[in-house]
Amino acid sequence: MVCIMSTSSISLPIHNKQSKKFAPANVPHAKKVYIRTFGCQMNVYDTGKMRALLEKDGYVATESMEEADLVIVNTCSIREKPELKVHSFLGEARKIKRFRDRPMTIAVSGCVAQQEGQKLLDRYRDLNLVFGPDAVSNIKTLVDATQTKKQVLDTDFLEEADYVFASELDPEAAQRVGAFVTIQKGCDNKCTFCIVPSTRGKEVSRPSAQIVDEVKRLVDEGVVEITLIGQNVNSYGLKVPSEKTFAQLLYAVAEVDGVERIRYTTSHPRDMGLDVIQAYRDLPQLTSYLHLPVQSGSSKILRRMKRYYKRERYLEVVEQLREARPDISLSTDFIIGFPSETEEDFELTMSLLEEVKFSSSFSFKYSQRPNTPALKLVDRDPVDPQVAGERLMRLQARQREIAQAEHELLEGSIQRVLVEGPAKHDQGVICGRTGTHKMVNFPGSITQVGQFVDVKITKGFANSLRGEQVFI
Ligand code: 5AD
Ligand code: SF4
Repeated sequence: MVCIMSTSSISLPIHNKQSKKFAPANVPHAKKVYIRTFGCQMNVYDTGKMRALLEKDGYVATESMEEADLVIVNTCSIREKPELKVHSFLGEARKIKRFRDRPMTIAVSGCVAQQEGQKLLDRYRDLNLVFGPDAVSNIKTLVDATQTKKQVLDTDFLEEADYVFASELDPEAAQRVGAFVTIQKGCDNKCTFCIVPSTRGKEVSRPSAQIVDEVKRLVDEGVVEITLIGQNVNSYGLKVPSEKTFAQLLYAVAEVDGVERIRYTTSHPRDMGLDVIQAYRDLPQLTSYLHLPVQSGSSKILRRMKRYYKRERYLEVVEQLREARPDISLSTDFIIGFPSETEEDFELTMSLLEEVKFSSSFSFKYSQRPNTPALKLVDRDPVDPQVAGERLMRLQARQREIAQAEHELLEGSIQRVLVEGPAKHDQGVICGRTGTHKMVNFPGSITQVGQFVDVKITKGFANSLRGEQVFI
């Protein structure tokens, strides 16, 4: 396993420590499961839970689809491009199934499963199982049902009160320096471009006692960095009067002995309260990094997206955060070419990028999603895809320059780095992250994985830093 540059808003630090719990795939006669994961942190986490639940049922994980008895593709439908991946994956899996002499159960989970349901089963007659995010805890029963039924479907949403968060630990968590812990599922917002409310259902907060318990068990496994995840983490607990608020949850997690770094994603600018900002003053464990999706710099577009904040409010939150934590590094998401976006609106997005100087950003061309309110706006006021593409390229080019300049300013500085693993394609080089979540590559040994080391930065690039270890 190697360090991976963030290509989406989240990546998990991994180390090479041999897992105490992860069963090797060469156990004779064990049933083998292969899981391919697309999409966001919630899918990565759900995959871990599926692995844990299936392991309890005697499965071991394999990295080879050819040797798997059960193949699962955990899918994403946030934009059209990731959605299409399910079809090429199924093509691959079904070919293997057809040309081998042992049975293979093929399952589709995640957001495309929830969205397409029976349609997937009708289209692929040799697909055995389709189940949505709410059915993850039920995976064992569903897989068992495929033994007696040719095709099985479970895309029911559970009532909020009936939703149960799986408590089993991902068997691969022990191999990691950092781990995700889910704190809520679903989303009650109605951003007009977004398919998540219809694929993941209503927001449910996980009881804080369960969250803290999972954090403790992960720390016992050697994990030192915790990332709290949810679709809109800072609305955590608001629907349950007796529950902690998100800020209180941060303090509770910081109290767990052995938690060195805390991150969270994704947060909504509207719900960024002063109590969370105060936590950046109080909690040294809270990483000096925040992913705060803005989507657009134009208040007109934000209104049409139903984001419920204006450009000015976003900038105010940024100012408050920087006051509380002067070195905080910010990243964001942008949607370019949202219906009715004019050149002037786009310039407002460019000027916001200039004003905030994000360390990185993830920018996407608006993608039409089934059953989302923005589709009505597309009919009335579409943006030419070519114009959107050109705007996207301009924004990305400027973002690279901003990041590069910021990283060059770090040359000569000494950064405390948490080592995550070997660098990709670079023998004898390891990588880790600074307290501001920047990736640093430097010569070292994988025995240092999981340790904090001081690294002098020798070169700043757009997406990473290069350095050498110093002993102070
Ligand atoms: N088109 C383009 N980007 C989208 N996102 C969500 N829905 C869409 C869409 N329909 C982006 C947003 C969000 C990120 C996870 O994906 O920027 O923050
Ligand atoms: Fe989608 Fe908006 Fe919910 Fe994020 S907050 S998941 S963008 S609806």
